[in-house]
Amino acid sequence: MCGIVGYIGKEQAAPIVLDGLAKLEYRGYDSAGMAVFDGSEIRTRKAIGRLKILENLTRGGETMPGVSGIGHTRWASHGAPSDRNAHPHTNGTGTIAVVHNGIIENYILLKKKLQNRGYEFVSETDTEVLAHMLDYYYKGNPLEAITKVLHRVEGAYALGILFADHPEVIYAARKDSPLIVGRNESGSFIASDVPAVLKYTRTVYYMDNQEVAALRGDGICFYSLDGEMVEKESVNIDWDADAAEKAGYEHFMLKEMYEQPKTISDTLSPRLQNAGAGKVEEIVIEELNMTDEELRQVKKIHIVACGSAYHAGVTGKYVLEGLARIPVEVDLASEFRYRDPILEEGSMVIVISQSGETADTMAALRESKAKGYQVLGIVNVVGSTIAREADACLYTWAGPEIAVATTKAYSAQLVALYLLAMKFARVRGILSDEAYEALIEDLKRIPDQIEQLLAQKQTIQHFANRYLGAKDIFFIGRGIDYAISLEGSLKLKEISYIHSEAYAAGELKHGTISLIEEGTLVVALSTQPALYQKTVSNIQEVKARGAFVMAVANEGNRAIEKVSDYAVFIPETNPYFANSLAIIPLQLFAYYVAVGRGCDVDKPRNLAKSVTIE
Ligand code: G6P
Repeated sequence: MCGIVGYIGKEQAAPIVLDGLAKLEYRGYDSAGMAVFDGSEIRTRKAIGRLKILENLTRGGETMPGVSGIGHTRWASHGAPSDRNAHPHTNGTGTIAVVHNGIIENYILLKKKLQNRGYEFVSETDTEVLAHMLDYYYKGNPLEAITKVLHRVEGAYALGILFADHPEVIYAARKDSPLIVGRNESGSFIASDVPAVLKYTRTVYYMDNQEVAALRGDGICFYSLDGEMVEKESVNIDWDADAAEKAGYEHFMLKEMYEQPKTISDTLSPRLQNAGAGKVEEIVIEELNMTDEELRQVKKIHIVACGSAYHAGVTGKYVLEGLARIPVEVDLASEFRYRDPILEEGSMVIVISQSGETADTMAALRESKAKGYQVLGIVNVVGSTIAREADACLYTWAGPEIAVATTKAYSAQLVALYLLAMKFARVRGILSDEAYEALIEDLKRIPDQIEQLLAQKQTIQHFANRYLGAKDIFFIGRGIDYAISLEGSLKLKEISYIHSEAYAAGELKHGTISLIEEGTLVVALSTQPALYQKTVSNIQEVKARGAFVMAVANEGNRAIEKVSDYAVFIPETNPYFANSLAIIPLQLFAYYVAVGRGCDVDKPRNLAKSVTIE
């Protein structure tokens, strides 16, 4: 979603702002803009479309000289993408410029009040309200005006603000939309996310809700909305800029797919503790902060998430229920937050989020905490809001994920859920030593097995090239295979724009089968031995209606070749872990179909990496 970058210091601001915005392109956007104080006034430039257009328009920032500036990439919410709706927005005289991420929910009311006072609006955005309100409350003290405005707005915001009267400061403020500030010897920075400033500094501060920061070239001060100074600790970022670069791969998505073996090892190994010579490792999840007795007390688990994280949660349900025999409910966060969920005594809530900033997931977390329940976050971005607000946080060590379509973070989420399921099963005495040891061995083999699957990329690419013109593609499976289908289908549709749906295979004949035509591609997941025969029946049903079937099945299952038209095999593993392997050919398939169709793989249209609005 929208990206914010700002700089004030000794260097020219515009090139730094443009460079930072380029690092945030992955978040998704449709227009870009920048405001720089040129020594006498604030100059603003905006352009619909790619950031390149703004770069060309300003000759890489050269035509906008000045040492303090703010910039923005906009993902349209209020008003279509256009130059006019792009940020920064200014007051009528152009002396106050604002960039904003989030939604001001009471903007219509505020806009009416301002219009009654004679303020004229030039855009359809909610953000413009902020610029005019700042103008209304500004009596010479920017901080005072900002806090007055923020007391009156409802909704979410991350803001960068420039006052022509006080060009020696840029202001930042945040509530429920991500924002960090950073410092180096040359100056101070604001950004929606760390990669935007990593080239310049590793010392960052995570802004808290309802906090304002005043950034000067030589320091940063933080304030509460009451104008009181707040002390904040900086955080040292220990991953490097290379982690957020393409490293020779054609796309971030491909690079991130190839990082999956490492991601899984990094998530797994810190939680597997040597239990002594000849003994298999014990699962130790210190972050849980729960004793074995407390774990035994958990009677029900609610998993809440959005998008692919939700799909990881669906797999988590099968694994937790199967291995640990704990009832699990999985909810989409946007549904959970408004359905007044019934959480009984002994319920535990697990929220899953790559970014740790997804608005609905965050709201679900708060709703659960308000009801008095313990919330465990499974989160990738260190220091993100969900990671900080959850009672406990299990980090997935996937590193920065840039491609909008998640791959490695999803894979790491699966592993986190396997570990939890095994831990619960162990403390509840459900798993025999033998079964536990076999599971641990299978877990440790997953990274190498993924390498083997990735090595088949050319075969999958070849197959994918046959489907570049497909109109509809269906994914079917039962149990965990259904969960894999959900994610495989989402990957394909989000990046290739081919219509695709996932169905529980047994549900096909209740409607979906009517969509099968001669030559329709059906991807049939068949990794669960107990359900194999049932899925074969469903494969036969779609084939009888003319479908072309690509099966994803377990190595050694040669019989599947007879019922399908094309088969991909995954190495041997415990059926509970099959998702981690079966998803690899599906990711590759989606990727190569999208590449073949000339799609913008890393930045699919209309989508955003971090969905910070409802
Ligand atoms: C967006 C992303 C998806 C992601 C979902 C949830 O839609 O494009 O890849 O699965 O948000 O995001 P989260 O950061 O909470 O995992």
